[in-house]
Amino acid sequence: MDEKTARREIVQIGKLMYERSYVVSSDGNISVRLDDGRIVATPTMTCKGRMTEDSLALTDAEGKSLTDRKASSELAMHLLIYQERRDVKAVCHAHPPHGTAFAVAGLAIDQPILSEVILTLGCVPLAAYGTPSTDELTEAMRPLVKHHNALLMANHGAVAYGADLWQAFDRLETLEHTARIAILSRILGGSKNLSTDAVEKLINVREAAGYLGEGARCQACGYLHETRLACPTGDRPSAGYRGSSENGAGKIALTRDELVELLSQAVSRGES
Ligand code: 13P
Repeated sequence: MDEKTARREIVQIGKLMYERSYVVSSDGNISVRLDDGRIVATPTMTCKGRMTEDSLALTDAEGKSLTDRKASSELAMHLLIYQERRDVKAVCHAHPPHGTAFAVAGLAIDQPILSEVILTLGCVPLAAYGTPSTDELTEAMRPLVKHHNALLMANHGAVAYGADLWQAFDRLETLEHTARIAILSRILGGSKNLSTDAVEKLINVREAAGYLGEGARCQACGYLHETRLACPTGDRPSAGYRGSSENGAGKIALTRDELVELLSQAVSRGES
């Protein structure tokens, strides 16, 4: 994408994020990676609803300022995502109230409740808390970035990213909409999860339709980590990952082999 288009779209998306209350005050930040590798980013401490195209910051691929505008204090988080994902060209970070409520409650958005979300976004894990703008935050997010297109950040907010700014924003919108429906359904007495079979069929549909490729199977890890559909990469998120929203309180998930190993150890301890 060229710089002029990036500046126009960032201002447009900033207004949308503000009008939808995904951000208030000077919350949130947005960036686009240009075709030549430079980054156009929102300036720090600026209301995203009131930006102008010439107020935006411009940096090189390492985040070094190329103008006198100071980029977002969270630029390192955007750079991490660009480093880990060559396919990503845009990042939106916000504090949408329902998604952020999950992040504050220590919950991932990973229950299979909505077929469309399984098709288009997949589960959204929760990265452990890290002080904003420091390595703590980026290191908590690092293991999750390559497996997911949106993340929650504990006691902080949400980030979504994509091949362009509209896709990043759409993913943020889906995250927030899903969190809202999940909360509403809990008020109505609790959500009914889709069955494992239904989830597996949806994953096949999304791969056949090209919504998410086979490489994105890990994006179902939250839905399926207790089921027979194993992550083919064998690279399940662990560091920083706080599993399923239902598993957080006292339940754990083990594979069959792990369970057998644990039982054998318990038996041999009993014999000695
Ligand atoms: P910046 O204004 O520096 O982008 O920070 C806003 C924010 O939301 C931090 O989480």
